[in-house]
Amino acid sequence: MTAADPRIIVALDFPTADAALYLANVLDPAQCRVKVGKELFTRAGPVLVEQLQQLGFDVFLDLKYHDIPNTTAQACRAAAELGVWMVNVHALGGRRMMEAAREAIDKAVHRPLLIAVTILTSLDADELCEVGLSGSPEDNVLRLAGLAESAGLDGVVCSPREVVALRKIVAGDFRLVTPGVRPAGVVAGDQKRIATPETAIRLGASYLVVGRPVTQAENPLAALADINALIDIKQAR
Ligand code: C5P
Repeated sequence: MTAADPRIIVALDFPTADAALYLANVLDPAQCRVKVGKELFTRAGPVLVEQLQQLGFDVFLDLKYHDIPNTTAQACRAAAELGVWMVNVHALGGRRMMEAAREAIDKAVHRPLLIAVTILTSLDADELCEVGLSGSPEDNVLRLAGLAESAGLDGVVCSPREVVALRKIVAGDFRLVTPGVRPAGVVAGDQKRIATPETAIRLGASYLVVGRPVTQAENPLAALADINALIDIKQAR
Protein backbone atom coordinates (compact mmCIF):
# COMPACT_ATOMS: atom_id res chain seq x y z
CA MET A 1 0.00 0.00 0.00
CA THR A 2 1.57 3.25 -1.08
CA ALA A 3 1.44 6.21 1.22
CA ALA A 4 0.90 8.67 -1.64
CA ASP A 5 -2.89 8.49 -1.90
CA PRO A 6 -4.42 6.71 1.10
CA ARG A 7 -7.77 5.13 0.21
CA ILE A 8 -9.00 4.89 3.77
CA ILE A 9 -10.88 7.83 5.28
CA VAL A 10 -11.24 7.36 9.03
CA ALA A 11 -14.54 8.80 10.29
CA LEU A 12 -13.77 10.83 13.42
CA ASP A 13 -17.19 10.26 14.96
CA PHE A 14 -16.38 11.76 18.35
CA PRO A 15 -18.22 14.34 20.46
CA THR A 16 -15.13 16.31 21.44
CA ALA A 17 -12.03 17.75 19.83
CA ASP A 18 -9.90 16.08 22.50
CA ALA A 19 -11.15 12.62 21.60
CA ALA A 20 -10.67 13.27 17.88
CA LEU A 21 -7.15 14.63 18.39
CA TYR A 22 -6.24 11.77 20.70
CA LEU A 23 -7.01 9.29 17.92
CA ALA A 24 -5.43 11.48 15.23
CA ASN A 25 -2.19 11.52 17.21
CA VAL A 26 -2.19 7.72 17.20
CA LEU A 27 -2.90 7.42 13.46
CA ASP A 28 -0.52 8.02 10.57
CA PRO A 29 -1.48 10.58 7.88
CA ALA A 30 0.45 8.53 5.33
CA GLN A 31 -1.99 5.67 5.94
CA CYS A 32 -5.37 7.46 6.00
CA ARG A 33 -7.36 10.60 5.60
CA VAL A 34 -9.90 11.70 8.19
CA LYS A 35 -13.57 12.71 8.04
CA VAL A 36 -15.08 15.43 10.19
CA GLY A 37 -18.87 15.35 10.29
CA LYS A 38 -21.68 17.50 11.61
CA GLU A 39 -21.45 16.63 15.31
CA LEU A 40 -17.71 17.11 15.66
CA PHE A 41 -17.66 20.22 13.46
CA THR A 42 -20.56 21.79 15.34
CA ARG A 43 -18.72 21.26 18.61
CA ALA A 44 -15.12 21.88 17.58
CA GLY A 45 -15.33 23.95 14.38
CA PRO A 46 -12.65 25.13 11.98
CA VAL A 47 -9.97 25.18 14.69
CA LEU A 48 -10.09 21.40 14.92
CA VAL A 49 -9.91 21.05 11.14
CA GLU A 50 -6.80 23.22 11.18
CA GLN A 51 -5.27 21.15 13.98
CA LEU A 52 -5.88 17.93 12.05
CA GLN A 53 -4.31 19.47 8.97
CA GLN A 54 -1.32 20.59 11.01
CA LEU A 55 -0.89 16.97 12.06
CA GLY A 56 -0.59 16.18 8.34
CA PHE A 57 -4.07 14.81 7.65
CA ASP A 58 -6.19 15.49 4.61
CA VAL A 59 -9.68 16.32 5.89
CA PHE A 60 -12.99 15.32 4.33
CA LEU A 61 -15.44 17.94 5.65
CA ASP A 62 -18.70 15.95 5.64
CA LEU A 63 -21.28 18.69 6.17
CA LYS A 64 -23.55 17.79 3.22
CA TYR A 65 -24.44 21.34 2.18
CA HIS A 66 -27.99 21.69 0.82
CA ASP A 67 -29.23 25.23 0.34
CA ILE A 68 -29.87 27.82 -2.35
CA PRO A 69 -27.05 28.03 -4.92
CA ASN A 70 -25.48 31.21 -3.55
CA THR A 71 -25.41 30.02 0.07
CA THR A 72 -24.04 26.61 -0.89
CA ALA A 73 -21.38 28.19 -3.08
CA GLN A 74 -20.26 30.48 -0.24
CA ALA A 75 -20.10 27.54 2.16
CA CYS A 76 -17.96 25.62 -0.35
CA ARG A 77 -15.74 28.64 -0.74
CA ALA A 78 -15.29 28.79 3.04
CA ALA A 79 -14.42 25.07 3.09
CA ALA A 80 -11.87 25.60 0.32
CA GLU A 81 -10.31 28.48 2.27
CA LEU A 82 -10.11 26.20 5.30
CA GLY A 83 -7.89 23.98 3.18
CA VAL A 84 -9.93 20.77 3.32
CA TRP A 85 -9.24 17.92 0.87
CA MET A 86 -12.86 16.96 0.19
CA VAL A 87 -16.25 18.60 0.77
CA ASN A 88 -19.77 17.46 -0.06
CA VAL A 89 -23.22 18.73 -1.02
CA HIS A 90 -26.62 17.07 -1.49
CA ALA A 91 -27.38 16.26 -5.13
CA LEU A 92 -31.06 16.91 -4.30
CA GLY A 93 -30.12 20.60 -4.09
CA GLY A 94 -30.27 20.44 -7.88
CA ARG A 95 -28.10 21.22 -10.88
CA ARG A 96 -27.79 24.98 -10.34
CA MET A 97 -26.75 24.49 -6.73
CA MET A 98 -24.09 21.95 -7.69
CA GLU A 99 -22.84 24.12 -10.56
CA ALA A 100 -22.60 27.10 -8.20
CA ALA A 101 -20.58 24.97 -5.75
CA ARG A 102 -18.32 23.83 -8.60
CA GLU A 103 -17.75 27.39 -9.75
CA ALA A 104 -16.95 28.60 -6.23
CA ILE A 105 -14.38 25.85 -5.73
CA ASP A 106 -12.85 26.37 -9.16
CA LYS A 107 -12.21 30.00 -8.24
CA ALA A 108 -10.47 29.07 -4.99
CA VAL A 109 -6.71 28.92 -4.61
CA HIS A 110 -6.95 25.54 -2.91
CA ARG A 111 -9.54 23.27 -4.56
CA PRO A 112 -11.03 20.44 -2.53
CA LEU A 113 -12.64 17.49 -4.25
CA LEU A 114 -16.36 18.26 -4.52
CA ILE A 115 -18.62 15.27 -4.11
CA ALA A 116 -22.36 14.70 -3.75
CA VAL A 117 -24.56 12.70 -1.47
CA THR A 118 -27.28 11.17 -3.64
CA ILE A 119 -29.91 9.37 -1.53
CA LEU A 120 -29.28 8.89 2.18
CA THR A 121 -28.96 5.15 2.79
CA SER A 122 -31.30 5.54 5.76
CA LEU A 123 -34.23 6.15 3.35
CA ASP A 124 -36.23 3.22 1.96
CA ALA A 125 -38.51 3.19 -1.09
CA ASP A 126 -41.63 4.08 0.96
CA GLU A 127 -39.94 7.10 2.51
CA LEU A 128 -38.68 8.23 -0.91
CA CYS A 129 -42.22 7.95 -2.25
CA GLU A 130 -43.45 10.03 0.69
CA VAL A 131 -41.17 12.90 -0.33
CA GLY A 132 -42.21 12.55 -3.97
CA LEU A 133 -39.38 10.46 -5.37
CA SER A 134 -40.68 7.46 -7.30
CA GLY A 135 -38.61 4.43 -8.21
CA SER A 136 -36.23 2.38 -6.14
CA PRO A 137 -33.46 3.95 -4.05
CA GLU A 138 -30.96 2.61 -6.61
CA ASP A 139 -32.83 4.23 -9.53
CA ASN A 140 -32.65 7.53 -7.67
CA VAL A 141 -28.99 7.08 -6.77
CA LEU A 142 -28.06 6.42 -10.41
CA ARG A 143 -30.07 9.37 -11.70
CA LEU A 144 -28.65 11.78 -9.12
CA ALA A 145 -25.08 10.53 -9.62
CA GLY A 146 -25.48 11.22 -13.35
CA LEU A 147 -26.78 14.69 -12.53
CA ALA A 148 -23.84 15.30 -10.17
CA GLU A 149 -21.36 14.22 -12.81
CA SER A 150 -22.95 16.40 -15.48
CA ALA A 151 -22.88 19.36 -13.06
CA GLY A 152 -19.11 18.90 -12.88
CA LEU A 153 -18.77 17.26 -9.48
CA ASP A 154 -15.84 14.97 -8.73
CA GLY A 155 -17.76 12.04 -7.32
CA VAL A 156 -20.49 10.75 -5.02
CA VAL A 157 -20.85 8.98 -1.71
CA CYS A 158 -22.46 5.58 -2.26
CA SER A 159 -22.95 2.22 -0.60
CA PRO A 160 -20.75 -0.70 -1.67
CA ARG A 161 -23.79 -2.32 -3.25
CA GLU A 162 -24.22 0.61 -5.67
CA VAL A 163 -20.62 0.71 -6.88
CA VAL A 164 -20.95 -1.77 -9.75
CA ALA A 165 -24.02 -0.09 -11.28
CA LEU A 166 -22.45 3.35 -10.87
CA ARG A 167 -19.18 2.30 -12.48
CA LYS A 168 -21.16 1.40 -15.63
CA ILE A 169 -22.48 4.93 -16.04
CA VAL A 170 -19.81 7.31 -14.70
CA ALA A 171 -16.32 8.16 -15.92
CA GLY A 172 -13.38 6.16 -14.57
CA ASP A 173 -12.01 9.11 -12.61
CA PHE A 174 -15.39 9.91 -10.96
CA ARG A 175 -14.77 9.22 -7.27
CA LEU A 176 -16.97 6.73 -5.48
CA VAL A 177 -16.66 7.21 -1.72
CA THR A 178 -18.00 4.21 0.14
CA PRO A 179 -18.98 3.80 3.79
CA GLY A 180 -20.34 0.51 5.18
CA VAL A 181 -16.95 -1.19 5.03
CA ARG A 182 -16.08 -4.01 7.41
CA PRO A 183 -13.06 -6.32 7.29
CA ALA A 184 -14.10 -10.00 7.44
CA GLY A 185 -14.85 -11.01 11.02
CA VAL A 186 -15.29 -7.45 12.31
CA VAL A 187 -18.65 -6.68 13.91
CA ALA A 188 -21.08 -4.89 11.54
CA GLY A 189 -22.75 -2.82 14.29
CA ASP A 190 -25.68 -0.89 12.81
CA GLN A 191 -24.36 -1.14 9.23
CA LYS A 192 -26.49 -3.48 7.12
CA ARG A 193 -25.24 -3.44 3.55
CA ILE A 194 -21.57 -3.98 4.18
CA ALA A 195 -18.62 -5.06 2.07
CA THR A 196 -15.05 -5.95 2.95
CA PRO A 197 -12.43 -3.31 2.06
CA GLU A 198 -10.87 -5.50 -0.62
CA THR A 199 -14.27 -6.18 -2.24
CA ALA A 200 -15.29 -2.52 -2.22
CA ILE A 201 -12.02 -1.53 -3.91
CA ARG A 202 -12.18 -4.41 -6.39
CA LEU A 203 -15.73 -3.42 -7.39
CA GLY A 204 -14.56 0.11 -8.14
CA ALA A 205 -14.72 2.21 -4.98
CA SER A 206 -12.18 5.04 -4.90
CA TYR A 207 -12.11 5.75 -1.15
CA LEU A 208 -13.46 3.83 1.82
CA VAL A 209 -14.96 5.58 4.84
CA VAL A 210 -14.15 3.47 7.89
CA GLY A 211 -15.23 4.42 11.38
CA ARG A 212 -15.55 1.96 14.25
CA PRO A 213 -13.32 -0.81 12.84
CA VAL A 214 -10.47 1.67 13.40
CA THR A 215 -11.75 4.10 16.04
CA GLN A 216 -12.94 1.37 18.44
CA ALA A 217 -10.02 -0.99 17.83
CA GLU A 218 -7.71 -1.81 20.71
CA ASN A 219 -4.83 -0.74 18.47
CA PRO A 220 -6.23 1.70 15.87
CA LEU A 221 -2.95 2.06 13.97
CA ALA A 222 -2.62 -1.73 13.61
CA ALA A 223 -6.29 -2.01 12.55
CA LEU A 224 -5.67 0.64 9.90
CA ALA A 225 -2.52 -1.12 8.70
CA ASP A 226 -4.46 -4.40 8.44
CA ILE A 227 -7.13 -2.74 6.28
CA ASN A 228 -4.50 -1.11 4.07
CA ALA A 229 -2.80 -4.47 3.66
CA LEU A 230 -6.07 -5.90 2.31
CA ILE A 231 -6.24 -3.32 -0.44
CA ASP A 232 -4.32 -3.91 -3.60
CA ILE A 233 -3.36 -0.47 -4.86
CA LYS A 234 -3.16 -1.77 -8.43
CA GLN A 235 -6.94 -2.28 -8.34
CA ALA A 236 -7.69 1.07 -6.78
CA ARG A 237 -9.05 4.00 -8.74
O1 C5P B 1 -18.34 3.23 12.17
P1 C5P B 1 -18.68 3.10 10.71
O2 C5P B 1 -17.58 2.46 9.89
O3 C5P B 1 -20.01 2.45 10.49
O4 C5P B 1 -18.77 4.62 10.24
C1 C5P B 1 -19.16 4.96 8.94
C2 C5P B 1 -19.15 6.44 8.72
O5 C5P B 1 -19.71 6.69 7.44
C3 C5P B 1 -19.98 7.25 9.72
O6 C5P B 1 -19.35 8.53 9.86
C4 C5P B 1 -21.30 7.39 9.03
O7 C5P B 1 -22.01 8.53 9.40
C5 C5P B 1 -20.87 7.49 7.57
N1 C5P B 1 -21.90 7.10 6.60
C6 C5P B 1 -22.48 5.85 6.60
N2 C5P B 1 -23.43 5.53 5.67
C7 C5P B 1 -23.79 6.41 4.77
C8 C5P B 1 -23.21 7.68 4.73
C9 C5P B 1 -22.24 7.99 5.68
O8 C5P B 1 -22.16 5.01 7.44
N3 C5P B 1 -24.68 6.07 3.85
